[in-house]
Amino acid sequence: MIPKATIEEIRSRCNVVEVVGSYLPQLRRRGSTFKCNCPFHQEKTPSFTVNETRQIFHCFGCGAGGDVFRFVMEYEKVDFVTAVKILAERAGVEIVYEGGQPEKSGDKDALYKIHREAAAFYHRLLTEGTEGAEARRYLEERDLPLDIIKEFQIGFAPNGWDGLMKRALQKGYTAEQLEAAGLVVPSERKGEKGHYDRFRNRIMFPICDPMGRVIGFSGRIMNKAEKGAKYVNSPETLLFRKNQVLFAFDKARKPIVEARQAIVVEGQIDAIRCHQAGLNNVVASQGTALTENHARLIQRYADEVVLVLDSDTAGIKAALASSEIFIAAELSVRVVTLPEKEDPDSLIRKKGSEALAGLVKEAPAALDFLIDCLGRQEDMNTEAGRMRVVKAVLNLIRHCPSAARRDPMIHRAADLLHISPQALGQDLRREQRKQRPVPRRMEETVPKTAPPKTYPKEEISLLELLVHHYPDVQPLIHDYLPSRYLADPLCRELVELLMVDLPETLTEGFQDFDEETQRVISRVQVEESRTIDDETSPADLAQRYIPLFWRRQLEREQSALSKCTDLSNEERFRESTRIRHDLHALSNGWAYARPIIEAHLHTPS
Ligand code: CTP
Ligand code: MN
Repeated sequence: MIPKATIEEIRSRCNVVEVVGSYLPQLRRRGSTFKCNCPFHQEKTPSFTVNETRQIFHCFGCGAGGDVFRFVMEYEKVDFVTAVKILAERAGVEIVYEGGQPEKSGDKDALYKIHREAAAFYHRLLTEGTEGAEARRYLEERDLPLDIIKEFQIGFAPNGWDGLMKRALQKGYTAEQLEAAGLVVPSERKGEKGHYDRFRNRIMFPICDPMGRVIGFSGRIMNKAEKGAKYVNSPETLLFRKNQVLFAFDKARKPIVEARQAIVVEGQIDAIRCHQAGLNNVVASQGTALTENHARLIQRYADEVVLVLDSDTAGIKAALASSEIFIAAELSVRVVTLPEKEDPDSLIRKKGSEALAGLVKEAPAALDFLIDCLGRQEDMNTEAGRMRVVKAVLNLIRHCPSAARRDPMIHRAADLLHISPQALGQDLRREQRKQRPVPRRMEETVPKTAPPKTYPKEEISLLELLVHHYPDVQPLIHDYLPSRYLADPLCRELVELLMVDLPETLTEGFQDFDEETQRVISRVQVEESRTIDDETSPADLAQRYIPLFWRRQLEREQSALSKCTDLSNEERFRESTRIRHDLHALSNGWAYARPIIEAHLHTPS
């Protein structure tokens, strides 16, 4: 359990405009609120609105709305507690749990803690003491200085079978926990079961999730002569999913958002070098194939991906496969070809970060890259050769879900291949019919939002008046409008709440309201649809709304009257005339309406 006071502390430190703005850089001030296109549904004119004073957001298009926690929940697709943790991290608030430490609250929390402590252990061995001397020398030779070693918490796994395990067992962890974390490997010697350290005598690179929590390691050998793989990586665990994690993403997220661009390199050291050299929107794929999950992660923050892969054939193949995946995720893709035998690390060391930045700037689009590569492999003077290129081009273009993006690709390819765009377009459609349709990301992951629930207009207006002009209108509504005359149960409940409590109660403990209530609260708070000017005061408006509710009530009574059989015709006529008279008075302004309302309030019905 996270204490309420902590939640409020985090809320007070996370300005909703700043948080939303970091996810949606297009957010702009428009008058008294901030607006941009809604991230929760497709739209062309901005109806997504953020109110800084009230610290809430609301979309007039799809009805999404809430406070800063709700925004993170919906955007990151996480539950409330995770949203609180994300924002706590951002605000630098430490969460002290009520009733016990976090590790009791689940296996995952224990694994995070093990990883955090293991990373600190390896890092300490590297930076202090004699054991890490050779590793320190190695990193120095590779020109990785102490500040960067600290920033990435690079470490050293000692040479031995149980350096880490011994330490962790002392601290109270079990061998099973360490095995679940992937830090030790089970063994069986002479029928006796045991465990040994997975990482031995290696430079350790902690791998973090997007929130900056260590979830795995990659360990590099220091000495070429030594046997064993160049890199040993954490296995798949509850926390570590290779096809989802990108190295350095936690550090690169903000720069990626700012540049709307992500640069993807292969190796950890390449990514670290880029960050050291001031290229900060860089992540590393860590040698594995890029997946839809990687693409989805990047797509949330960037419009464009630049792939920096080895210039060998394997690298080119990987670049093309990755291009398809990113294009399918509606990202623009460009591909950097490095000079032969160079990787980003070596290039920057030799020629500086400008050299890499220049290549990134000049990098051709994936389509151009493909045509260029294949054009060199195939004999473009033969029909068969040309058709193979056309086929590959069509295959790339068909991954693009948006017709608006496909169209310029078709024209560009047609231009480069000297074919008419019409012919290429026809072949594309034929190819699309033959192939299984490429899953369309947007439709896949953004569920079609149900149209927002609608509420009676005058009830929403009444709530708006109440929250924005409480002292002026609360007494009027309290005295002249019984809440039972509100038709919508949710609006009625909120009006009732506001009769006994100040509007601040809607904001404090916001998370205790259910999702739909949060939406209505946000909607009425985000901005006023009515403008209060010199002529019309809030009280005037209230005096205009209140009779509306009475009219509605009297109209109901009138139609009930016609069905009522208990009364004589004469009685019915008299009653009906009275109601008609009252209805008339109620539409003649407050001076006429008020005595009628008072009369009704004092007659028991
Ligand atoms: N890799 C791996 N296992 C291997 C080799 C490579 O997991 N046996 C991953 C590592 O994440 C590595 C990346 O693939 O960072 C790229 O490999 P490579 O180019 O060989 O290594 P570099 O990152 O360039 O490392 P270094 O510069 O130290 O050689
Ligand atoms: Mn390298």
